[in-house]
Amino acid sequence: MTPLSAPDSATVEHQLRGSVLVVTIDHAPVNALNAAVRRGLIDAVTAADANASVRAVLIVGAGRNFIAGADIREFGKPAVPPSLPEVCNRIEACSKPVIAAIHGAALGGGLEVALASHYRIAFEGAKLGLPEVQLGLLPGAGGTQRASRLIGAEAALSLMLSGRHVGAQEALRLGLVDRVGQSDDVLTEGLAYAHELIATQAAPRRTRNARGPADRQASADAIAAARAETQKKSRGLLSPMKIVDCVEAALNLPFDEGLQFERKQFLECRESPQRAGLVHAFFAEREAQKSPETRDARARPVRCVGVVGGGTMGAGIAVALLDAGLSVTMIERDDETLERGRAHVEKVYDGLIAKGRLQQEAKARAFERFNGATSYDALADADIVIEAVFEDMAVKKAVFAELDRVCRQGAVLATNTSYLDIDEIAASISRPQDVLGLHFFSPANIMKLLEIVVPARVSDDVVATGFELAKKLRKVAVRAGVCDGFIGNRMLAVYRAAADHLMEDGASPYQIDRAVREFGFPMGPYQVIDLAGGDIGWAARKRRAATRDPNARYVRIGDQLCERGWFGQKTGRGFYRYDDGARIGKPDPEVESIIDAERERAGISPRAFDDGQIVRRYLAAMINEGANIVHEGIALRPLDVDAVLMHGFGFPRYRGGPMHYADSVGLDTVLADIREFAKEDPLFWRASPLLVDLVARGKPFASLNQPA
Ligand code: 3HC
Ligand code: NAI
Repeated sequence: MTPLSAPDSATVEHQLRGSVLVVTIDHAPVNALNAAVRRGLIDAVTAADANASVRAVLIVGAGRNFIAGADIREFGKPAVPPSLPEVCNRIEACSKPVIAAIHGAALGGGLEVALASHYRIAFEGAKLGLPEVQLGLLPGAGGTQRASRLIGAEAALSLMLSGRHVGAQEALRLGLVDRVGQSDDVLTEGLAYAHELIATQAAPRRTRNARGPADRQASADAIAAARAETQKKSRGLLSPMKIVDCVEAALNLPFDEGLQFERKQFLECRESPQRAGLVHAFFAEREAQKSPETRDARARPVRCVGVVGGGTMGAGIAVALLDAGLSVTMIERDDETLERGRAHVEKVYDGLIAKGRLQQEAKARAFERFNGATSYDALADADIVIEAVFEDMAVKKAVFAELDRVCRQGAVLATNTSYLDIDEIAASISRPQDVLGLHFFSPANIMKLLEIVVPARVSDDVVATGFELAKKLRKVAVRAGVCDGFIGNRMLAVYRAAADHLMEDGASPYQIDRAVREFGFPMGPYQVIDLAGGDIGWAARKRRAATRDPNARYVRIGDQLCERGWFGQKTGRGFYRYDDGARIGKPDPEVESIIDAERERAGISPRAFDDGQIVRRYLAAMINEGANIVHEGIALRPLDVDAVLMHGFGFPRYRGGPMHYADSVGLDTVLADIREFAKEDPLFWRASPLLVDLVARGKPFASLNQPA
């Protein structure tokens, strides 16, 4: 993705304070190591070496962070010297002790700068880590070699393969830093540390010479274990195994050879499509949080939230809100359904307790903020109400009429509807400006995606409140316009139809699932149906039957299964069999017979598809509908579509979402596929006008990724 932010200014200032040269990196917002910062760091160290008055160097970051890492916006562009490895080597070679004083983020290249420094102090709130793996990379400025030498293979592997951040205390325990600051005065304590080192005539202490844990066998075992684990877990990913290789090199090679090995692996990762996909994902999910409505509007304050409906979604939403520290009042129809709603919420917490992920006291604390009621009057003080009752327009309107009656002026009234027309709901009450769509995904306390659906008459501060709430809930919010299914479910309907066509034409559901998994989705479409319950889609299909285009192809196989009561896992049968409560299904010959019968009924003689052909059709359908959604303004930009598919529908992050993937394949190739498929079914395979236009102009989807 092209960087969307304005060009920035970066400086590295160095100033002599007594005998300590204080080097301050100032590159808002996160002190990323762009070319100017890298140059500045080399200049500062050179100045320190050249100046006899300098007896120690203190590196600090301006603003809220030490250094967040390499400047991700530079990837994919021609490299500008000096490289980060050169910078780190130069710092390490400095003839005077170099101290890194770390507050906020010291991530990736930022931690590598600290590791190349000779002494390290971290402050409360610091976040240290080597998260490169999340961007399809590995630490490429000596991080794999220095971290392994400093804290040992096992700890280094754990940091680099997970990408997790550690705080100051844990960093101290691991040996990543030498001490933890006692105050939040980074400069004063950093200077005091420098003076202490000067007073004790401490020499530069170079991590390249660190010995690490002495037990070579334990390190070799940790590497073997990480290799086996990575093989199992990081299917399809390039960088994790290379990280393991680099740690092995740290164990077996002299430092400089290890560095060379690391660099080669890093460059291979940097040039890979996976890196491009993951960096696109990084920027897309941040950019998606911005919408034109929120530019000048301030969110309304939110503390107390009402949730109407305590079913699957209402309970999950309640847990998400409680986990964010908010107070929740749940409204249900009667005492019995309310009790069931409360039990749903409890079940989520009990599940976490059973897995050892939550303490009983934490559950008790959450429940102190949970109330249930059967009267809407309990919502009189709510700042925002989220409705999650049955998917039925009349029921929703009745609920909103009640909300209109009881809620205080200024309360935000949100619906979690999956498909219904929110403009119609808004128009049915006296305050349409307060009505918003907040479309959560199941399970709502786990799934990252939140579509913020913006009806025509909503006021900007209500939209801003939706985005702010998403932030509190740690969700990836994406703005969507009103239409049947918004962004995600509308696309799902189309690519599932493409899968159904493939199934009726000759591919088995099991082959389709496998091909889609091989592409990188965690599950195939028929596994997902079995997990969510086939009855949900069945109900929607029945609802739409009257308005369906009679000329459109309609595959009845799913309906046939539902008519037998085979709704998936919960009934023990769906597209797969789940004998004895198994969670992983087995192919079912009876399902295959039903499919055969349906093919015969439709007069189709089955043909073979290879996995590649399956994926091409599945993706082409997804991309084409994504293009329609952007074309109609339902999604602001292609990147919003990507964020939805990655965070709500399992699209592999390393492929960057369907629109980024389409760019990487070439839009002309995608269009040619669609035109080819259209020869069989011109009604289904109508090329999106946006796709046609972009191909004619030789532009990618990325050209439309402008700031909101
Ligand atoms: N390069 C360029 N821009 C970056 C950046 C980076 N490394 N890290 C963050 N930014 C930008 C974001 O895009 C965002 O820009 P915007 O305001 O225009 O949208 C802005 O900085 C603020 O970022 P966040 O919204 O994420 O701010 P938070 O305060 O929530 O989080 C953070 C701060 C924890 C530092 C988080 O931004 C982060 O995790 N950044 C990435 C860190 C990382 O992955 N570093 C490794 C880079 S790869 C590397 O170093 C290779 C080396 O080994 C050679
Ligand atoms: P559900 O059937 O599990 O729960 C609905 C709940 O609403 C029931 O507990 C019912 O007692 C209650 N209810 C019905 N009328 C009510 C009223 N007038 N006042 C108070 N409570 C009332 O349904 P589910 O799956 O939780 O769906 C709820 C909404 O969320 C629907 O609009 C659905 O389209 C949407 N949704 C569902 C998703 C899913 O995966 N299940 C995903 C995203 C959205």
